[in-house]
Amino acid sequence: MTEKKAILKVEGREDLELPIHTPTLGQDVIDVSSLTANGIFTFDPGFTSTASCESKITYIDGEKGQLLHRGYSIEELASKSDYLEVCYLLLNGELPSAEQKAEFVSTVKNHTMVHEQIRNFFNGFRRDAHPMAIMCGVVGALSAFYHDSLDINDSTHRDVTAFRLIAKMPTIAAMCYKYGLGQPLMYPRNDLGYAENFLHMMFGNPCEDSEISPTLARAMDRIFILHADHEQNASTSTVRLAGSSGANPFACIAAGISALWGPAHGGANEAVLKMLEEIGDVSQIETFIAKAKDKNDPFKLMGFGHRVYKNYDPRATVMRESCHEVLAELGVNDPQLELAMKLEEIALNDPYFKEKKLFPNVDFYSGIILKAIGIPTSMFTVIFALSRTVGWIAHWNEMISNPYKIGRPRQLYTGETERSFVPVNERK
Ligand code: CMC
Repeated sequence: MTEKKAILKVEGREDLELPIHTPTLGQDVIDVSSLTANGIFTFDPGFTSTASCESKITYIDGEKGQLLHRGYSIEELASKSDYLEVCYLLLNGELPSAEQKAEFVSTVKNHTMVHEQIRNFFNGFRRDAHPMAIMCGVVGALSAFYHDSLDINDSTHRDVTAFRLIAKMPTIAAMCYKYGLGQPLMYPRNDLGYAENFLHMMFGNPCEDSEISPTLARAMDRIFILHADHEQNASTSTVRLAGSSGANPFACIAAGISALWGPAHGGANEAVLKMLEEIGDVSQIETFIAKAKDKNDPFKLMGFGHRVYKNYDPRATVMRESCHEVLAELGVNDPQLELAMKLEEIALNDPYFKEKKLFPNVDFYSGIILKAIGIPTSMFTVIFALSRTVGWIAHWNEMISNPYKIGRPRQLYTGETERSFVPVNERK
């Protein structure tokens, strides 16, 4: 915080002095919280110019294409770390020592099973239900099982909830998939690593030992890392807003999952593959680019553009490399990857996309990797939710551990002015 001030001049009012906060990284932030007391407030649909909170977890420089978690670059974390270590970092602020890491991993492993009665919920869903629909319901229902840890003001309760959610999300995600297939819901295997165990529950069956390729497990782990957190995006802000009312963390995470589902957010990875299918062939790219540029056509190039990044999404750069590694390792020659590469090349050289600074985002490549691993399109957003759970929890915990207010935005009212009620038989 510094002594800098902004002066707000409003016609017919006295000038207002507003403090300016200086962050450790990034742009200065004008503090407008005193405006309401002065009979005025701000209008910012989509929160494009509004910081909703103070946070120490993640920093994004959209112009540079930089993403830092607790100060560490996403490129370094993706190449040198693993998902559970990144979870520890996001939750605790520092990388763990070897001993702390072993303890953290062991505690996560102690929580991987879900209550047997949770399995009964699945039978209530149609077999063709979207796995995100199942996940929203089942995660929300977890609050009915863990009464022992729902006191949000108790830091031990918050910690155990963090462990439970991180540990159980892969189990629930895989159950959502297996249920749709009509296959037995798999139990976790605690002798396996986090990503390996997830692949075991997705692709294994109780009759045979599953073989998990280390390359695929590593690719999966990297996808988890790249989606672990992304500061105040729509779903994280939803989790914070829900949490600000004092709602329990399982309910808050269920709210986050719902917000993530939309195609403008986490649903984009599924939408990218659907779009590539629709484009079908390199010869059709120009037609779809023209549609994306047409103001009268709602079509957008899925996997392009970002609210904050006005440069290449750094996660997309890592994902692009990972995508090539995985396909090379598996010997997969995916025509959709070729189509994606061509689409990327054409879009990046198109004046419309250049002017609007629309670059490929993380979801542009993640779908191709997930497809190569054998994960169906409908599971893509579920995997995003699984990975993002730690980010949601870290933000929720940061909010609850500090003084906070219920989130309650105001509005610019443009409806009717006050009028008298007319009884129904007198209305025209
Ligand atoms: N294709 C074509 N035009 C686009 C696209 C696109 N993918 N994205 C933005 N634009 C245009 C948009 O029409 C607007 O044009 P104009 O200024 O003429 O009205 C301009 O670029 C600015 O876009 P915006 O919609 O105002 O930007 P936003 O910050 O509100 O939206 C976005 C960001 C990610 C929702 C949007 O770019 C989009 O819908 N992209 C496709 C969906 C997608 O890939 N989402 C995943 C985001 S990354 C994963 C995550 O974090 O969830």
